[in-house]
Amino acid sequence: MEENIKIKTILSGIKPTGQLTIGNYIGAMKNFIRLQDDYDALYMVVDLHALTVPQDPKELRQKTLSVIAQYIAVGLDPEKSTLFIQSHVTGHTELAWVLGCLTGLGELSRMTQFKDKSAKPGANINAGLYTYPILMASDILLYNADLVPVGDDQKQHVELTRDIAIRFNHRYSDTFTVPEPVIPKSGARIMDLQDPLSKMGKTDSGESGRIALIDDPAVVAKRIKSAVTDSGTEIIYSDKDEKAGIRNLLTIYSNLSGIQVADLEAKYAGKGYGEFKKDLADIVTQSLSPIKQKHDELMKNKDYLDEVLRNGAEKAQNKAWKMLSKVYRKTGLVQLKR
Ligand code: TYM
Repeated sequence: MEENIKIKTILSGIKPTGQLTIGNYIGAMKNFIRLQDDYDALYMVVDLHALTVPQDPKELRQKTLSVIAQYIAVGLDPEKSTLFIQSHVTGHTELAWVLGCLTGLGELSRMTQFKDKSAKPGANINAGLYTYPILMASDILLYNADLVPVGDDQKQHVELTRDIAIRFNHRYSDTFTVPEPVIPKSGARIMDLQDPLSKMGKTDSGESGRIALIDDPAVVAKRIKSAVTDSGTEIIYSDKDEKAGIRNLLTIYSNLSGIQVADLEAKYAGKGYGEFKKDLADIVTQSLSPIKQKHDELMKNKDYLDEVLRNGAEKAQNKAWKMLSKVYRKTGLVQLKR
């Protein structure tokens, strides 16, 4: 019997709001790389999302290209994955309008990321920050993604996307694939090195609390060595708040070296934090140095990046137009005869 096997689609995105951190790498990008071989993979830089906070235009352009270069530098292959910039494809904002008409204000108000961001002193609470999850739902549904690799902090947004997809399918007819998040068991929430009870962020962590993928090795080593630990001596993975610093460092160590946490605990039994941090600094710099080197080379080759982006936009646009026209037809918008 012949089976019609459809290759599943995987899609994700990163905001070009700052330097990508090892949190982005461990929580999301490692899965991007792992899954690109077996799926129709689309990875974008979500520049429109970045506009929800004020951006310097020149810096935004530079950061957007730098994220594309980092995608390639970590191992995403433009021959296998569609790499593109969100604003290069018509359809994301159009579909967001349709989906916004199916989303409740209450649902948006419940989003923890919106609540956190808008609660910050002096926050710029604009409409885009509030409707951001609708644009993210549109990014995902426009390509009928089956899987969405993300870190823990984006899980709620993917859940809202699922609810919106189910609602649309129910109201009109089966149209959207209901996507599943792919969240790593370990490393889905890498914490700030100076405040290990808060997430490491591209912009919300202070410089000494984060490690960027393209930081200088000397900076990386210094940040690891000055990471907050506790007044104890034991290198163990514990859920206790006072162990949050060591827990986070063990998680980073394990994810970058491939050594299980239990084996790390055994390796460092009876040893001091100093030795552990020194080894970790070596592991992190060894993992990041080739990424930085490749990124720096790619940033000098703007013609190559332009070609990757042109191909990516073209492939993504073809899919986006098909989906958008299907959605417009199903919702009752008049289409011109071809
Ligand atoms: P963004 O740009 O904040 O983060 C990119 C990805 O990195 C993950 N991440 C982390 N993982 C572990 N530890 C951390 N400290 C950490 N910080 C960030 C995030 O969970 C995310 O997977 N709204 C999204 C971008 C987006 C998107 C999409 C994602 C827009 N459209 C469609 C998937 C599909 C965001 O702001 O991610």
